[in-house]
This record gives sequence, C-alpha cells and structure tokens, in this order.
Amino acid sequence: MGRGAWGVGNKGSRGNPSKTQNFHPSTTRKQARVLASPIHFLLKTQNSKLTPPDTRSRLTILKVNLMYLQINNLSKNFETGQGTLVVLKDINMLIEQGEFICAVGASGSGKSTLLRQIAGLDSPTTGEVKIDNQLVTGPGPDRGMVFQHYTLYPWMSVQENAEFGLKLQGMGKKERREKASYYLSVVGLSKFAQALPKELSGGMKQRVAIARALASEPKVLLMDEPFGALDIHTKEAMHEFMLDLWRRTQITVFMITHDVEEAVFLSNRIYALGARPGTVRKEIVVKLPERGHAVKRHAIFHDYRDELMELMRKHGQEAVAIAA
Ligand SMILES: Nc1ncnc2c1ncn2[C@@H]1O[C@H](COP(=O)(O)OP(=O)(O)OP(=O)(O)O)[C@@H](O)[C@H]1O
Ligand SMILES: [Mg+2]
Repeated sequence: MGRGAWGVGNKGSRGNPSKTQNFHPSTTRKQARVLASPIHFLLKTQNSKLTPPDTRSRLTILKVNLMYLQINNLSKNFETGQGTLVVLKDINMLIEQGEFICAVGASGSGKSTLLRQIAGLDSPTTGEVKIDNQLVTGPGPDRGMVFQHYTLYPWMSVQENAEFGLKLQGMGKKERREKASYYLSVVGLSKFAQALPKELSGGMKQRVAIARALASEPKVLLMDEPFGALDIHTKEAMHEFMLDLWRRTQITVFMITHDVEEAVFLSNRIYALGARPGTVRKEIVVKLPERGHAVKRHAIFHDYRDELMELMRKHGQEAVAIAA
C-alpha cells in the first residue's frame, strides 16, 4: 500500500471527522468550526425531533468546546516489588476538537494507564495532559468516561444512572432530569428510563453509560475498550451507533482498544502503541471511501487492518523479546 493511503500524521494531516478532507488547524478554520458546530448540532437536533433542555447553554458549551487534548512527553512509572516499572514513555498526542481518535495497543501496553492520566484519576510521573490549554490535575466534567466493564449502579433506574454524574456536580433535580432525559433520547433509550440495568442487554447498558458521560457535556469522551465485552453483532451495532452519535453531536472521542478493525472502522486517526514501555510507534490517518458497514468489504479497509495487525504483531514480538 502506498504512503498516500496511510499518511503518517503530522500537524497538517489531521482530518476533520465530519468531512473527508484534511486541513491545517488555522485560526480561521477554528472560527469557522465554532460557528458551524451549533448550527450543525441544532439542525440535526431538529431533524431528529429531539429537544435540547437548554439551547442557550448548549451553544455556549459548543463555543468553548473548541479544544485540543494535548499529551506532552507523558511518562508513567509504577514502583513494584521488582523495581520500577516503566509503563508509558514519552507519549505525545494532540487531538483536535471533533476528532475520533483510537489508541491501539496489545494487552499490557499501558492503554488504560494512559486513559487514567487523561481522566485525572492518576498523575503522570513526568509530562502533562492539557485540555483546552488547561493542565489536568484531577477528574473533571470536561471529560466523560466510559469503561469496558458495566459500571451502572444496579439498584438505580436507567434515568437515575444517567443523572448520577450531574447529581454529583450538584445540579438541581429538574435540570439534571431534563439533561439526562435528553441524552437518553440521544442514545435511543427513552423508553427504558425507568428500567433497572438488569433488564438491559450489554449494548444497552453501554449506551446508558455513554448517555451518563454525555450528560455532563464533556469536551472529550474517553472510552476504555467500551465494547470489549459485547458479542460481535452487538459490537457492530454499537459501532454504527457510535458513528451516528459522533456525526450528530460532533463530540471529540478518544477511545482505546486492541481491536484493530474497530479502530479502523471508527477513527479518523489512530495511534499505534508499542509495549514495554508503551510508546507511540506510529500515527495513522484513516481515509476511508465511506463510513458504514459496507466499507469493511473495501480493499483499503483491509489494507489498514492488515498493516495495523502487522504492527501489533511486531510490537508484541518486541515486547516478548524485551521481557525474556
Ligand atoms: N497501579 C499499578 N501498579 C503497578 N503496575 C501497574 C499498575 N497499573 C497498571 N500496572 C501495570 O502497567 C502495565 C499496563 O497496564 P494497563 O492496564 O494500562 O494495560 P492495558 O494496555 O490497558 O492492558 P489491557 O489491554 O489488558 O487492558 C501492566 O503491566 C500492569 O501490570
Ligand atoms: Mg486496559
């Protein structure tokens, strides 16, 4: 496959997920996107007959939503009984507002550790994470998190689960009810608002988790292998759902996975991580002729998948050799 298809990412090669062309993130472009996003969002909202609970605050949120997620020279060590374990080393990533980014790596390459640093659940040994130029020093509502394992409270209804983050933020009952209801409608679960999690399928549970994360109207949605526990058909349905959600809301997504097909199908850019220690080994701009299930039959999809698989295989062998 030629370089044109792969294109190693650089500042100029980041794609706009809602369009297929690349662009330079210039100020003019940023301004255009700020203006365009609310219009896009509201049009889509009107078309889908969803009623945002507070349009003015949503516009404000979208205006300040222009951001970069920056990970600068991030390293993470753990002190263990066997000495210092270097899990992540010199990670540099730059994610633009509206991108759908996947970081792909083998088990143990430090993916969850990386996401925990971004979420502010842990602090890097060296380096930093910035969102919208603000240093991350702990968890915050600007980052919504979805985990691999089901994290709904079993005794709470779907509605209460979706409201939970807002309640923790101290939001009043009426406002949080409206917001959570709105995001349950976005993920297509309004009819299940009063159900308990045990009455839902795995895919539905993850959609509630996504609604709960979206309800805080985060600047970035962080996802840690969110579909890893699902069967293949539910997983495919969730992929279609994520693409639709991404198009409708223009949310910035940073997702980690070891599923290379998932990464190629969903992302506009992929960071391929090597292991021991986890480092960014390659940045891949994904340009597919279309987004949707049929694209999996395209040779270009297979090329991306095969090259990523080959990278994973190579990184795995290197990690084994280092460990030996
Ligand atoms: N708190 C900790 N203390 C010590 N070592 C840790 C800690 N957290 C993670 N590690 C180690 O860091 C390495 C990376 O773990 P991490 O969970 O980030 O990997 P991962 O890429 O998410 O793997 P998987 O795909 O299996 O979820 C592992 O070797 C793990 O044992
Ligand atoms: Mg993990």
